[in-house]
Amino acid sequence: MKKVLITGGAGFISHHIIAHIIKNTDWQIVTIDRLDISGNLNRLHEILEQFSIDEKKRLKIVFHDLKAEINSQISSEIGKPDLILHLAAASHVDRSILYPMEFVQDNVVGTVNLLDFAKKLDKLERFVYFSTDEIFGNAPKGVSYKEYDRYNSTNPYSASKAAAEEFCVAYENTYKLPIYITHTMNVFGERQHPEKFIPMVIQRVRDGQKVFVHSNEEKTLAGSRHYIHAQDVADGLMFILNLKNYKHQGDFGNASCPKFNLVGPEEIDNLTLAQSIAKIQNKDLIYELIDNHSSRPGHDLRYSLDPGLLKSLGWEPKIKLTKRIEEVVNWSLKNKHWLSQN
Ligand SMILES: NC(=O)c1ccc[n+]([C@@H]2O[C@H](COP(=O)([O-])OP(=O)(O)OC[C@H]3O[C@@H](n4cnc5c(N)ncnc54)[C@H](O)[C@@H]3O)[C@@H](O)[C@H]2O)c1
Repeated sequence: MKKVLITGGAGFISHHIIAHIIKNTDWQIVTIDRLDISGNLNRLHEILEQFSIDEKKRLKIVFHDLKAEINSQISSEIGKPDLILHLAAASHVDRSILYPMEFVQDNVVGTVNLLDFAKKLDKLERFVYFSTDEIFGNAPKGVSYKEYDRYNSTNPYSASKAAAEEFCVAYENTYKLPIYITHTMNVFGERQHPEKFIPMVIQRVRDGQKVFVHSNEEKTLAGSRHYIHAQDVADGLMFILNLKNYKHQGDFGNASCPKFNLVGPEEIDNLTLAQSIAKIQNKDLIYELIDNHSSRPGHDLRYSLDPGLLKSLGWEPKIKLTKRIEEVVNWSLKNKHWLSQN
C-alpha cells in the first residue's frame, strides 16, 4: 500500500485531491498544513463525512509550517512517503505585491525545505510540484503557452512559483529526484475561499449586489480564463502519476522534470461566466466592467495554456464547464456557510 504526502491539505485544491485519493485508491495519506487564513480544517471535516471509519483513518494531519526545515520529529510524524504532492503555497496576488518576502519564504524556501526532505527518502517514486499558468504572465489573444515556454512573472506570487519550479528542475538534475511539474489554470469547486471570483459572484448575485468584472482599459473586453474544476485537477493528477517514467520528447527532447499543463475544458470570459451564474439563479446580473490594470496592478487580463500535451497522452477533463459551474452554483447555494466572508 502506497503512502502519499500532500502539502496544504486544509487548502482548497488539496482537500479535493485527498477525497479523490481516499475514494479511488487504498493509499495512506499524510498532510502537512500550517492552517493560515486560506487553510480550513472544516474542508477536510466535511469531505471525510462521506467515508467509513477505516477510510477516515487513512488520513493523518501534521501541523507544520514549511518555512521551517522538516526536522527529525516532523519527519518521523510523516514517515516515508512513496509520493509527494506539493500544493502548500501562499497564493494571494495582492498580498504578494505588499509583502514579496513572505512569498519567497512560503513558496521558495518552503519548497526547498520539502525537496531536502524528499532527497533523503530511499524509495520516492514521484514528487509533483503544483505550479501555475501565472508564471507565463498575460497571454495575448491567440497565444496559449506550452509547458516549456519562458517565464514572465507579472507579480511576486508568480515569480515565487517560477523560482520554486526551477528549484525542482535543479533538484532533479543535481540529486536525481523524480519530479513532475503541473501548470494549472484557475481552479474552482466546492469549499473555495469566498473571495475568489466564482464564489464571490454566486454570493453577490444571490444577494442582488453589483459584480465588478475586470476588463481592458477601454472597458470593452472582460478578462478570460480556462477554469477547471478541482475534481478534474485530481483526475488529471492521477493520470499523470500513472504515466510512471514519462520523458518529455518535445522541442527540448528528454528535458528534465516533465511538465504538464492541466487545463480546463474551454476558455470563458469573466462576464459570460458571471452571466451564466446569474442565469442558473434565475436572476439578472448587475455588473460593472472595471479597468484591470489601473485597479489591480500585477493582475493579467488573460491567461491561456495549451492543453495539447496531456490531450495527446490521453487526458482531458471529462465534464463540460457549464455542467461543472451549474453543480458548484447549486451546491454553494445549499451550503451557504462557504459563501460567507466572516
Ligand atoms: N487555486 C487556483 O486557481 C490555482 C491555480 C494554479 C495553481 N495553484 C496552486 O495550487 C496550490 C494550491 O492552491 P489552493 O488554491 O488550493 O491554495 P489554498 O490557499 O486554498 O491552500 C493552500 C494551503 O497551504 C497551506 N500553506 C500555505 N503556506 C504554507 C506553509 N508555509 N507551510 C504549510 N502550509 C502552508 C495553507 O494553510 C492552505 O491550507 C498552490 O500551490 C497554488 O499556487 C492554484
